[in-house]
Amino acid sequence: MTDLITTRAGLDAARATMSGTTSVVMTMGALHEGHRELMRAAREQADQVIATIFVNPLQFGPNEDYDRYPRTPDADLEVCRQEGVDLVFAPGLDEMYPDGLPSVRVEAGPLGEVYEGASRPGHFTGVLTVVCKLFLLTRADVTFFGEKDYQQLALVRRMVRDLNIPVDVRGVPTVREPDGLARSSRNRYLSAAEREAALVLSRALHRGAEQHTAERALAVADKILSEGAGVRVDYLALTDPLLGPAPAVGEARLLVAARVGGTRLIDNVRLFLREET
Ligand code: PAJ
Repeated sequence: MTDLITTRAGLDAARATMSGTTSVVMTMGALHEGHRELMRAAREQADQVIATIFVNPLQFGPNEDYDRYPRTPDADLEVCRQEGVDLVFAPGLDEMYPDGLPSVRVEAGPLGEVYEGASRPGHFTGVLTVVCKLFLLTRADVTFFGEKDYQQLALVRRMVRDLNIPVDVRGVPTVREPDGLARSSRNRYLSAAEREAALVLSRALHRGAEQHTAERALAVADKILSEGAGVRVDYLALTDPLLGPAPAVGEARLLVAARVGGTRLIDNVRLFLREET
């Protein structure tokens, strides 16, 4: 049985009846296979699974897609049912922000200002503010975030550590289409031709990740991206796993953001750097 709850009071009442470990998977709806994977991980590792569905205006810039962001409430509830979610918390705007947009917010700090944050000023403050509220409302013990939004995952971990929020944050690997495209609610904006063009993102990252040195990884990925017609790269970056400077040797992360037509897409992969032989 999946309960749909839209109020904070309702969530409190339902939460009081739950026992054992409680997990939360936070989403903005338009659920796809990526979200399902988070729900499965939660189902496997916790006694109770809460999914939240809320399109958070605070994390959208003035020229972004808040108004046209896909909203598919009936299909979303069905996905949650199929994945064995116990409770869906889908509050309206007034329920989440009863006094209007909050005047006190969770500042994302320097990590919120690079990469995605450089292109989307204020985005991560908006994300962390709603994520913090949802941790407090759900009082979950464990939470699952996708590596697809790698910087978001890193910042949620950082917030939990910096603010002593009592929740265990787990990352889940990116779910892809069979041809490599990372699953995203925004993929539905792509025309057939744009979807084809968008494949250079994952191709560039995977080819880059086969290289052994930082220089080669960036050069190979950059070359593939530059050959992609209709793809405007916002950034291509090689970092360490915490998004600091890339090491010469060891685990690293290759991240990309690009605009394909009017749609902004992001992707990233893990790679291991070693000495050139
Ligand atoms: P949304 O884009 O709906 O994503 C919800 C969660 O699903 C995030 O943790 C995201 O990383 C994960 N996810 C999305 N696509 C994925 C994929 N292909 N593979 C694995 N995981 C994937 O991210 C947000 O919503 C919001 O910023 C939110 C955290 C809900 C705050 O409003």
